[in-house]
Order: sequence, then C-alpha cells, then structure tokens
Amino acid sequence: MIAQPLTILDHHYQELNNGGEDVIQGLSQNPKILSPKYFYDDPGSQLFEKICELPEYYPTRTEAWILQQYADEIAEITNCCELIELGSGSSTKTQVLLDAYQKIATSCRYVPIDVSGGILKTSVLQLQKKYPDFSIHGLLGTYEQALVHLESSYLQSRMLFFLGSSLGNFNPEECDSFLNQVSRTLQTGDFFLLGIDLQKPQDILEAAYNDSQEVTAAFNLNMLSHLNWRFQGDFDINLFRHQAIYNQVDHQIEMYLHCQKSHCVFLEVLGLKVDFEAGESILTEISRKFDLRTIETQLQSKGLNTVKTWTDEKGWFGLILCQV
Ligand code: AVJ
Repeated sequence: MIAQPLTILDHHYQELNNGGEDVIQGLSQNPKILSPKYFYDDPGSQLFEKICELPEYYPTRTEAWILQQYADEIAEITNCCELIELGSGSSTKTQVLLDAYQKIATSCRYVPIDVSGGILKTSVLQLQKKYPDFSIHGLLGTYEQALVHLESSYLQSRMLFFLGSSLGNFNPEECDSFLNQVSRTLQTGDFFLLGIDLQKPQDILEAAYNDSQEVTAAFNLNMLSHLNWRFQGDFDINLFRHQAIYNQVDHQIEMYLHCQKSHCVFLEVLGLKVDFEAGESILTEISRKFDLRTIETQLQSKGLNTVKTWTDEKGWFGLILCQV
C-alpha cells in the first residue's frame, strides 16, 4: 500500500466557491492590494522555478551556496528529528539539508508545506524515492493553517525552516504576528532556520525583479489568471503592466500591476465588481530587504535566540539559525 503523501489542510481551498475574503478586501481598498500567496497556483509555481534560474535573480543561488557550505554544520548543531519547511515549493534547495541529515542519520521526518498542490505532490513523490529512510509528508495549505495544525505538543526535536526570504513578503505587523506563531509552534530546544535577503544597491535589486526575459512580469500577471480560474473572473491581463521598484525608505521591493485603460472586472464567485482607472495599480507583493542585526534582535524578542548566522562573500543573503 502506498501511504498518502499529502494532507490537505483546507479542503475548501481547492473549491471555487470558498475563500477569497482577502481578495474582496484588497480590491475594494484604495490603493488596491492582493496577497502574494495568489502567485502560487501551479503555473505560477512553475514560473517561480524559472525565476530562480534567471541570471539577475541572485537570492536562490546565493542561499543555495550558503546551504551547500554549511548544511553539515547545521545538521550537527541541530541534530533534530523532524524537519518542517514552510513554503517548500519544489524542495530543490532543501535536498542539501536532507543529505546532511542523512549522513548523521538523525532525522526521521520531513514535512514540506506549500499552497501549490501540483508542485508539492510531485516533489513529495520524488523525495520519497530519493530518501527512503525519511518519512516524508506534505501539508497543502497556507503557513497559518500549517502552523495551527502543527501546534499541538509533540515528542520529537524539531527544526522549522523558512527559506528564500519569503519572510520579506510580510509587512512589519504581519511579520511580528508570524514570528509569534512560529515561536508558539516550537518547544524549548527546537530550532528555527531563516533565510533572508539583505539590503544592497538599488540597481541590483531592481534588476532581480525586472529581468530581461520578463519571466517576473509573466509571474506577476499570472496572479490575475489565477484569480480568473479560482473565482471565475474576467481580468484581461493585456490591460495590465508589470513594474517592480525598490522603495529605499522602507527597504523593500514593491511589485505592481499597472492598469493601462479604465475598465471594470467581475469576479463571479465572489460577487465582486471592481472598477479600474487608467494609471491605477495593484500592489501584488512587497519583498523586504533586511539588516541582519535588526532581524536578530526581533527574533530574540520572540524567544528565538540566534545560535549562528551565515552569509555569502558579498553579504547579499543571510541564513540565521535560532533556538527556542
Ligand atoms: C519567494 C517571496 C522570496 O520576494 O524574491 C521573486 C518572490 N517575486 N520574484 C521574492 C518573487 C518576484 C520571492 N519570494
């Protein structure tokens, strides 16, 4: 018998007539805003995989380099049994960590969590073949759903990890409540491994989010196609243009979809009619760029104490290992 590789945390998420309250809220306010989680339907997750390969998009390969250098050390320090990954996507980078834990043979369980069912299922099946000694179980759902699901007490030692600087998608308030939830989910002695993108010159940042092959533009526009199928909408993606700018004051990339022509969009499942004016924009993502010491202090205030921090030679990306 083949074990079920996935637990679906919200059975309604896949159904067309549920959810979307945040879409109604975000498109009714001024300026308009959408949650970056709507990037990641199956085509969106494929586009993100392509972004990770782009020459301008340095975060993935920089973080992968740090992981390659220090995975053995991380495994030795943490020695834990259960590895839980938030926003695992294809789990490509994670394999370096799984290899390191396999060498010291302590870990027994890997739990990847993602909102994208297709990529999660594929990667769980591949990992089960590649790592027969690990028990691998995917959770399909949002971070919040997964953390609630994982909150009840447990016996194994745990490391929760959150790579790729996805933390940067949260504004300061969301970041604060997310870190509270992380610290509630862990028990004394457990670890939290966090990958964060660091502040650097504007031209490098803007190039990473405005790539010459326009994959990022396609990724941004795909959010509207996602809303079209999920909520039976009639967005015409040809009426919108991608833009990413670096906000130097808030140290964050801001991704927008700019509307080119005044028109009206209807999302049938949500019963939502949205008016757009020419020149109006939707904020689809912020991607904050951090200062290592500041984030370490914030983590510490949540009881997540830094054990060790690693960066690359240019100091472009940081990996922080914390312990509760
Ligand atoms: C997955 C949130 C880390 O902010 O760099 C890539 C997503 N957006 N290109 C990022 C993204 C545009 C990415 N994160």
